Amino acid sequence: MVIFFILSVLALVFQTPFTIFLLIFGQIAIWVFNHYRNKDHIKSIKNTAKQETKVANVRADEAYDNLVKLINAIPSPLVYINQKGDFEVSNQYFNSLIKVDAESVYDIDIDTVIRQTLLDAFLNERQFVKQLNYRGIDFQVLSIPLMVEGNRYNGCMLIFQDITRVLEGEKMQKRFIADASHELRTPIASIKGMIEIMNRSNFNDEETRTEFNLQIEKEANRLEHMVEDLLLQSRLKSKQVYLEKTRFNLKQFFDSIVYEKRQALYHAKIETIINCPEDLVVYADQFRLTQVFTNLINNAINYAPDGTIEITAIDNKDRVIIEFKDNGMGIKEEMIPHIFERFYRGEGDRSREKGGSGLGLAISKSIIEAHGGSIRVESEYQKGSSFIIELKTDA
Ligand SMILES: Nc1ncnc2c1ncn2[C@@H]1O[C@H](COP(=O)(O)OP(=O)(O)OP(=O)(O)O)[C@@H](O)[C@H]1O
Ligand SMILES: [Mg+2]
Repeated sequence: MVIFFILSVLALVFQTPFTIFLLIFGQIAIWVFNHYRNKDHIKSIKNTAKQETKVANVRADEAYDNLVKLINAIPSPLVYINQKGDFEVSNQYFNSLIKVDAESVYDIDIDTVIRQTLLDAFLNERQFVKQLNYRGIDFQVLSIPLMVEGNRYNGCMLIFQDITRVLEGEKMQKRFIADASHELRTPIASIKGMIEIMNRSNFNDEETRTEFNLQIEKEANRLEHMVEDLLLQSRLKSKQVYLEKTRFNLKQFFDSIVYEKRQALYHAKIETIINCPEDLVVYADQFRLTQVFTNLINNAINYAPDGTIEITAIDNKDRVIIEFKDNGMGIKEEMIPHIFERFYRGEGDRSREKGGSGLGLAISKSIIEAHGGSIRVESEYQKGSSFIIELKTDA
């Protein structure tokens, strides 16, 4: 630039053909220089832009992959419906929910229940939460409309949450409250009735008074046991019971329980056989396990009199398998899935007659499960029942 300036000054001052030539030549040289410099510059800008686009594309691909991974990790059917009604993003659970290979809310191959919900969410552009039952599953559907700048509707997102178990739990809880209040109300009503009669001014029957007093004591004891049993079971279920585990000999344990119950067993004309290796040791809370086997013996006394109980224990590596078998009245097939439920009593009210409240097996199950073990039943109506318990032999 400086040279060009000097040349220009010289050309203007001297105005010779040589200086004028120099001036023209200099201008051409500068133009050529600038042209190539700009070309290189543009080229480098182009390259940089290309590289940046490439990086941006890679980033966009990564972000999309992450989004797909994320929505597939959500264990509920999820879909984003764009403003045209197309399923723009959806996870595998949504695809298996609608079953068909559909691409938009208008596809008539989608089952009416689901399609109606999708259309409702898409067309009404409003947020809602609703419940629906589809193929035996209870769903809670949440629809969220998506808005862009200017409050413009940009489609909606739907998530289908499986709430079958929650509803099941609610139903069970309601049933439990109904059963528990019924069971508690019965002895309370009978106590109140007897007290009312005894409080009448003209009541002077001493024999009935003695009888009523005994009956009231019996009902009060039943109530007390029931409340204790319920509390114990709920504490066991919420792991609030501390198990005092010790190592003890199983054969001696069975012998002592049968000895404790010898009178009741004798009256029920039940013979007991114990098949247990002499040296078999378990690690458990002996007091709680006594509750389990006392329940099983009480049941045998009530539902399998005039028969035989056979208790067999087998050492199976780190587990012990105990079979408690009777040859009594057995359990009807349709009753089997329910006998470990709270307050469930078999037909004929035989256990009610015996003062049972249907909590024995529910508590036994909770005790065994609190030990990390399992209990199940196999039974044939009119032939007998087998309760099979598995317990860990070690800690
Ligand atoms: N060994 C058995 N043989 C036949 N039926 C049985 C036997 N054990 C249990 N059942 C059936 O299962 C039901 C539930 O038993 P569970 O021990 O839980 O309650 P319960 O004996 O009726 O009352 P509770 O034990 O609270 O005094 C019983 O009412 C009975 O119908
Ligand atoms: Mg019982």
